[in-house]
Amino acid sequence: MAVIKWRNHHLEDIEIALLLEAMKARYGYDFSNYAHASLKRRLKQLRDYFDVPHLSHLIPSLLYDERVAQVIINNISVLASDFFRDPPVWRYLRDEILPRLATFPRINIWQAGCGRGQETYSLLILLHECGLLDKTRLVATDINVSAMDEARAGRWSARDLDRWRTSYLAAGGQGHFDDYFQREGDTVMMVEHLRQKVEFNQHNLVTDEVFMEAQFIVCRNVLIYFDDTLQERVLELFGRSLQRGGYLLLGRAENVLQSSLAGRCFQKIDAGCNVLRRTAEVAHAGVAHVEVAHAGGLHVGGQHV
Ligand SMILES: C[S@@+](CC[C@H](N)C(=O)[O-])C[C@H]1O[C@@H](n2cnc3c(N)ncnc32)[C@H](O)[C@@H]1O
Repeated sequence: MAVIKWRNHHLEDIEIALLLEAMKARYGYDFSNYAHASLKRRLKQLRDYFDVPHLSHLIPSLLYDERVAQVIINNISVLASDFFRDPPVWRYLRDEILPRLATFPRINIWQAGCGRGQETYSLLILLHECGLLDKTRLVATDINVSAMDEARAGRWSARDLDRWRTSYLAAGGQGHFDDYFQREGDTVMMVEHLRQKVEFNQHNLVTDEVFMEAQFIVCRNVLIYFDDTLQERVLELFGRSLQRGGYLLLGRAENVLQSSLAGRCFQKIDAGCNVLRRTAEVAHAGVAHVEVAHAGGLHVGGQHV
């Protein structure tokens, strides 16, 4: 009888590859270029959550049960968010970037990776307080349709309100934060005039293309979950989606720009706020040139502008 050589240490990777392939073949979601260590950690959490001995046990379930697939998508896509998360960044937007955007006749904003909408409505509150809402079109996108349904509804548990108010004030909020919500039992709902100002659309940064010409792109805490190849793809997509002179905001921890090919276009920014400005045409990766924005103002080629 032939002796089969087992390579047990590879089994888990094989299972992950098979599970990802099943998600892609069945539902069209391709997670193969998500950062491997974090993906592996999240899939192990799923194995425990579903209480199965091996990840491969989930494959038949996800193939036949969309609810299992949705749990997997929610887990892999990481929905953590907050109102005015990272307040100094919002203060910087208010003081430095929005006044610059105000000089455009119309402002198209693409917020990629909007999740359950807390960041989307933070943006709308800011635009409202800066008097820019009427000339702005805000399109918020995400891979996760069920998260966007929650974002569209604009309703959350009221237990987080105190924390959000604190961040809003730290971000330089000029109104009464609670006035942006209607209280309904133990939930709060975003006021209708702000809910009406956003279009939510599904858009997958892995596979989908340019759909608007934007003056401002916000994509925070999304690239951090992608590997280098996918980060490169997305940065190039952002370059082609941004109008010349437009701005790109990434998450503070997303120091993705230096090493990549697209990084030649999107230079590493200051230690504070990850805001970049596009200044040249983008035909393909490596062509765009993006300025570096500093918390104290924008710097172009060493010049303060
Ligand atoms: C950690 S949340 C960040 C939410 C928000 N931007 C913030 O910083 O508070 C990451 C978001 O990226 C979305 N996402 C993950 N993969 C994506 C993809 N391939 N295309 C579009 N959105 C994606 C997730 O669904 C999730 O809403």
